[in-house]
Amino acid sequence: MSLINALNWRYAVKRFNQDILNQAQLNELIESVRLAPSAYGIQPYQLIVVSTDTVKQACLPYSYGQDKVANCSHLLVLAHKTELNQHDIAAFIEQLAVSQGKSINDLAAYQKQIEADLLTRTPEQQANWAQQQCYLALGTLLTSAAASYIDACPMTGFDVNGINQVLGLSEKGLSAAILCPVGIRAEDDHAASRFKFRLSQEQLVVNL
Ligand SMILES: Cc1cc2nc3c(=O)[nH]c(=O)nc-3n(C[C@H](O)[C@H](O)[C@H](O)COP(=O)(O)O)c2cc1C
Repeated sequence: MSLINALNWRYAVKRFNQDILNQAQLNELIESVRLAPSAYGIQPYQLIVVSTDTVKQACLPYSYGQDKVANCSHLLVLAHKTELNQHDIAAFIEQLAVSQGKSINDLAAYQKQIEADLLTRTPEQQANWAQQQCYLALGTLLTSAAASYIDACPMTGFDVNGINQVLGLSEKGLSAAILCPVGIRAEDDHAASRFKFRLSQEQLVVNL
């Protein structure tokens, strides 16, 4: 399937069938999030993969009645870091240096640049910045899922504090940014037949 066909095929699924994605399908989704770009490459988030019914059910009271968080194959959660400190940046630079066969000294200027940007932000600004990075991972995940005929529904309609509590995210320095139930669309999902509304190219594009 071409990428454009995949983007036309996908929609935000409201009802999943009972199918459970196999490990290869799940790995593909995970790998797409792993490979998503992020500012500086620092990936200030984690991907929580919820496969147990108990945990999915526990998320239900915090999803504003959207039962797809429980009735799906897996519930993926993109959770951003709530703060970024010098240690986070140093740890990232260390791994980057190893992976690129460089010394930490080679990356000293890059490290300073990241520090000057991120460490001068308030914790709230850092959290917002980290949360924004999750959206790029989400876009990559949705596109990759569609290309493999896997369905998904991105969700920001949920009670963040409740989900953080259920998943034990706050104590890990994380906060839920986006929920994304994944699986296979149900045959009777009414949303499947909805017209896909998008701005026309004329409305979207500004030619200068
Ligand atoms: C960041 C984001 C948050 C969303 N939150 C929800 C949500 O909480 N519940 C829901 O049913 N759909 C949610 N959606 C799905 C959008 O409503 C949907 O993508 C949009 O209407 C376009 O329709 P389509 O994706 O089916 O083409 C969300 C989408 C995005 C990108």
